[in-house]
Amino acid sequence: MRLNDKIALITGGASGIGAATARRFVEEGARVVICDLQAEKGEALAAELGEAASFVRLDVTSEDSWSQAMPTALSCFGRLTTVVNCAGVSIPANIEDETLEGFHRTMAINVDGVFLGCKHGVAALKGGRGGSIVNLGSTLGVRAGAIFPAYSASKGAVRLLTRSVALHCAEQGYDIRVNAVLPGAIHTEMVEGYVAAGVAAGGTREAVVEGFASVHPMKRLGRPNEPAEAIVFLASDESSFTTGADLPVDGGFLA
Ligand SMILES: NC(=O)c1ccc[n+]([C@@H]2O[C@H](COP(=O)([O-])OP(=O)(O)OC[C@H]3O[C@@H](n4cnc5c(N)ncnc54)[C@H](O)[C@@H]3O)[C@@H](O)[C@H]2O)c1
Repeated sequence: MRLNDKIALITGGASGIGAATARRFVEEGARVVICDLQAEKGEALAAELGEAASFVRLDVTSEDSWSQAMPTALSCFGRLTTVVNCAGVSIPANIEDETLEGFHRTMAINVDGVFLGCKHGVAALKGGRGGSIVNLGSTLGVRAGAIFPAYSASKGAVRLLTRSVALHCAEQGYDIRVNAVLPGAIHTEMVEGYVAAGVAAGGTREAVVEGFASVHPMKRLGRPNEPAEAIVFLASDESSFTTGADLPVDGGFLA
């Protein structure tokens, strides 16, 4: 029970890494408020997790949505100790194919969403003891990919946004740590989208999956539970002197 007494708001909690995180948090004794646009999936997961979980609809790109969701989330279990900013999108398109509209959409979800999650998260966690904010960056925010100009830019921004918020919280003496997890390719619906694109372009499913796996020194895709374990660590008091850090979960990709 590494997360006893923790109460976490998890954006993007209906799917993939966010859903795996919600499950692991509850297993470790936390209560979770799953926030997502996908209400049906989020409510089903909250029902599966029982009394330790609630679902609140949230569009991370909208400050009005945060202003409505945050008081509801705080009232679910009386307070919050933890915010996990996991909502994100990745739609591959190189610089010649990407549109300004597509670029803005990626930045709105991946950067505005994390900015608002940190801003409203700090306001909610300030004054408590042992607060933690965990943002989902990506290895593609450190090493760019030619087909990911928007995604790489957005995840590079998340890294330094994370550090800036961490420094502010430390300077102000708030007991809030702020860190980023940088996953490599993790087998979720996001990566299934890449696989579908590869198959549509003429590859076999096996070859496309193998192509993603092969860029990782460990020669496989990650499982959603693997970044979730890193998020458990950063949300727990085990990481009490860790702030402003990047934690890769990438099978050696950044080594
Ligand atoms: N899967 C990977 O390989 C990988 C690698 C590196 C980083 N990441 C990051 O991890 C995070 C989770 O990715 P995942 O693979 O679990 O993806 P996923 O597609 O399985 O889940 C993303 C979730 O975010 C939600 N979402 C999207 N836009 C939203 C919005 N405006 N408001 C609220 N919720 C919204 C979606 O509904 C979905 O439930 C993302 O930030 C992603 O960039 C994933």
